[in-house]
Amino acid sequence: MFIGAVPKEVVGQVLSTVPFDEWGDVYVGCSGSFRFDRAVKMRHPGCRVYSNDVSLLTCSIGALAMGREFEIRFKGELEFVEAAIAGMDFRGRVAAVMVASAMGKFTSKNEYAQVHFRHYREQFRVFVDQALPKLAALVAQIKIEDYYAGDFIEQADRAEKRGGGMACFAPTYKNGYERIYRLVNENTDWPAPRYGIWDPDSLPAFILSLEERHIPYCVISDQLLADRTPTTEWRGANKPVYTYSSNQAASYRRRLPNEVQFKYAVIDPAAIAAKSKVTVAEVDGKRMNYLKNVYLAKGIEHTTGQFNCIVLIDGVLAGGFIFAQTRFGDKTRELYMLSDFSVSRERRISKLIPMIASCREVIEPINRRLLIKVEYIVTTAFTTKPVSMKYRGIFELDKRAADHLQYQSAIRNQSIQDVFNEWLRKYAGQGGKPDRQGQAARPEIAGEERALHDTAGV
Ligand SMILES: C[S@@+](CC[C@H](N)C(=O)[O-])C[C@H]1O[C@@H](n2cnc3c(N)ncnc32)[C@H](O)[C@@H]1O
Repeated sequence: MFIGAVPKEVVGQVLSTVPFDEWGDVYVGCSGSFRFDRAVKMRHPGCRVYSNDVSLLTCSIGALAMGREFEIRFKGELEFVEAAIAGMDFRGRVAAVMVASAMGKFTSKNEYAQVHFRHYREQFRVFVDQALPKLAALVAQIKIEDYYAGDFIEQADRAEKRGGGMACFAPTYKNGYERIYRLVNENTDWPAPRYGIWDPDSLPAFILSLEERHIPYCVISDQLLADRTPTTEWRGANKPVYTYSSNQAASYRRRLPNEVQFKYAVIDPAAIAAKSKVTVAEVDGKRMNYLKNVYLAKGIEHTTGQFNCIVLIDGVLAGGFIFAQTRFGDKTRELYMLSDFSVSRERRISKLIPMIASCREVIEPINRRLLIKVEYIVTTAFTTKPVSMKYRGIFELDKRAADHLQYQSAIRNQSIQDVFNEWLRKYAGQGGKPDRQGQAARPEIAGEERALHDTAGV
């Protein structure tokens, strides 16, 4: 139901490094599932906790916890909810918001999503009845002084006025939650607060404003900020999560160097021609980590793969890809592509790399080494966009989730050079626009295997 809840391990790290008991008044920004709000009260019963969020889901649960009510009307695509919950009180409406929020994950046009959406719609009342005890259990755990439905920037002003501290868990993607909650936002009437769409690039300025106002703070983020040392760092299977806080009781673990630097030449995209020769070579994990740190999004703990390959065009580097045996699929038929990258944004080289990764000539040596017969490869693009421009047209979109896309490709029955010729014909047009993958500041992160950040339930 809640998406993007702060990992429990991070909550644990924060509780053991930040002196909330000294703060006394803990103003939370972006409470979401109230996970942190509940934990801080449990650890420090003497603290007064003030929650905050802007979503209907969190605001309505916050209202219940405070013994308040506000009007919620379902309309448009959610008009049917009114009949399903006819006669129910505010608590029933909040349970309906929980169910409708979960439906928000199934608004795409693909059949998988549509079947789920229909099922929710047909069984809506059953889902509401199932949600009610969960809601009651959650509300019973929320022991807060107040709930502020509004921008967390204003929550910081409230902390300042009351001499409290600010614990903030702002979104890591711009517009991410607006997309996640689109179904509910567009199809309900309720006294929604006005707020500014948070841009994660504003984080350094936000922290500075807390410091200038002497507000004790702890801020959780996926960003490794240039001029700050995080107080805590957590590396799950996902992107790292850092905490920045006003106290210095650091539990920061430095990363051991796991890369080996080496010299290499990079392809000039304009020099690629029909007579170019393409080869694939294997490199060791540490050299691949070095390349990934150069060409993939910064601040990601790159998982070391089993097969690390670089693609060379006329002997110079064009990109690379990394395979690991699948963790969740059929190991004899499926191979997981952890990452793929290209050294240039020109001429859609980023499409060439996964095309080559999925060709027979590349996969056969892996089959021989692992004694398997790979039929298809799977990869993940971490993005909130509906499609990956890189994989569009060359891989099949298999699954779409709020923060990632799952793609797969059957093994191309082609040699490396055949794939190159096909790519040259279809995608590499000299005058073609640079592709949109590449080293943008916050790109979709291609194929870095990780656990889902979606922590359904509470
Ligand atoms: C990363 S989640 C918070 C996670 C939460 N701490 C938890 O563990 O469940 C981000 C939350 O920020 C809320 N949000 C987004 N923009 C906001 C804003 N400008 N002010 C307050 N809350 C906002 C979203 O509705 C979402 O619930």
